[in-house]
Amino acid sequence: MSKRSLRGLRVLSVVSTRPELIKMAPVLKEFERRGIESVFVTTGQHYDRELFEEFVCELGLRPPDENLAVGSGSQAFQTGESLKRLEAVFQKHEPSVVLAEGDTNSILAAALAAQKLLVPFGHVEAGLRSFDRRMPEEINRVVADHCAELLFAPTKLSALQLLLEKIPKHKVFVTGNTVVDACLQNLPLARKKSVIRRSLPKKYFLLTVHRKENTDSPTRLKQIFAAAARLEAPVAFPLHPRTKAFIGKYGVKMENIVVLPPLGYFDFLALEEGAAAVLTDSGGVQEECAVLGKRCVVLRENTERPEALGPNCVLAGADSRKIVAEARKRAVRAPCPFGDGKAARRIVSILERGFERRSLAVESSSFVGAGSHYPEFELVSAAKHAGKTIAAFERCEKCEANVLFEGARGAARYPNPERVLKKTDFLLVKR
Ligand code: UD1
Ligand code: UDP
Repeated sequence: MSKRSLRGLRVLSVVSTRPELIKMAPVLKEFERRGIESVFVTTGQHYDRELFEEFVCELGLRPPDENLAVGSGSQAFQTGESLKRLEAVFQKHEPSVVLAEGDTNSILAAALAAQKLLVPFGHVEAGLRSFDRRMPEEINRVVADHCAELLFAPTKLSALQLLLEKIPKHKVFVTGNTVVDACLQNLPLARKKSVIRRSLPKKYFLLTVHRKENTDSPTRLKQIFAAAARLEAPVAFPLHPRTKAFIGKYGVKMENIVVLPPLGYFDFLALEEGAAAVLTDSGGVQEECAVLGKRCVVLRENTERPEALGPNCVLAGADSRKIVAEARKRAVRAPCPFGDGKAARRIVSILERGFERRSLAVESSSFVGAGSHYPEFELVSAAKHAGKTIAAFERCEKCEANVLFEGARGAARYPNPERVLKKTDFLLVKR
């Protein structure tokens, strides 16, 4: 544990799987840099050396202060055991705030345990939605967001989703995604240290598959590997332990595939950067492709990261023909929608500010409507305020603009404070 003062801000972060380590490393390091007391807890959801310990070392983190050793099991077992064990750890450390990233069972447990103990919960990567309730991750995200007092949305679109779900605006912050920080911080090291590309030909594709919807379906797995077999260059395939079990069980044939163990971050980044195209069902890998300007073929029917979709990134499901056709296209230049690599700094500054202002607390009621327990939203035309910015409109009308509609039937947009209002705009406001 790194300490500043006995009564200072104490942040307890629950970080338990590979992607959480990668995306929380910039935040944990920022705590260290600012001398903020930080407790690092893992539920033990990922326990293999190559999915956890090796990342702790490579990312330059100190080992976890608490390992709750929950391990693998059914959805309910993993969530329930984590909830029970986290409660005890939160009581022991008495944090000012609990922080967790993403959508795993461990972070759902962290959000619930914090809420039940009335410890404020901060959710990093809030507001992502696939709208597919068959994914365990979707329910985890929704519940975690609705337990949170601080919601760190990576993009304006994810912030807008939270506002549409009537989460109070003062709890929502658009910070960028910490994956950009991680990627930019580690890419130079990956270029220097990784030698993995030497074992592959100049042209290769990169494949990762681990989502339940693919691993648990023999048909989908077979279609994905049929596509890989048809590509004109070998396909590097770091094998997630979950997928390994199912490939054996279903007897899936793998042709044109170079099977690799789960890779460390440097090797994986190096492979991503050098690949002709990336085929994946991973969330983090979709985002990294956007940072690296890589062509990304998403092996899913939907994505909670629609910002990534565009000229370089498409949904191909498990349709072999589409996967092959999309993987063969060239990447074009496109801006990265996930931020500028300063997300961790913003998140930590928001936590520090909240602590200094004594506003880190679970609110009794977020709603201010007179005589009502429900927020009073009102749809107003911006016609009278055309030419003013949304911030000026809010000051003038003494209200909070939650959603901007560009025209009476226009799409919902995040109300950027600097956006200049047009006659035809409408705003959903809370007075
Ligand atoms: C979990 C997350 C998923 C995330 C992924 C990151 C949930 C519901 N799923 O999926 O959102 O994208 O982590 O990789 O939280 N196993 C090992 N060694 C380990 C861990 C797991 O062999 O260290 C095997 C076990 O057989 C286990 C299976 O992998 O049953 C699945 O592990 P689990 O953590 O439950 O889910 P993931 O598929 O890894
Ligand atoms: N990753 C890695 N080694 C691998 C595969 C992935 O380091 O062999 C990294 C990848 O760069 C990304 C993260 O792991 O940052 C994504 O994790 P995963 O696909 O397991 O989970 P998801 O993002 O889908 O939740």
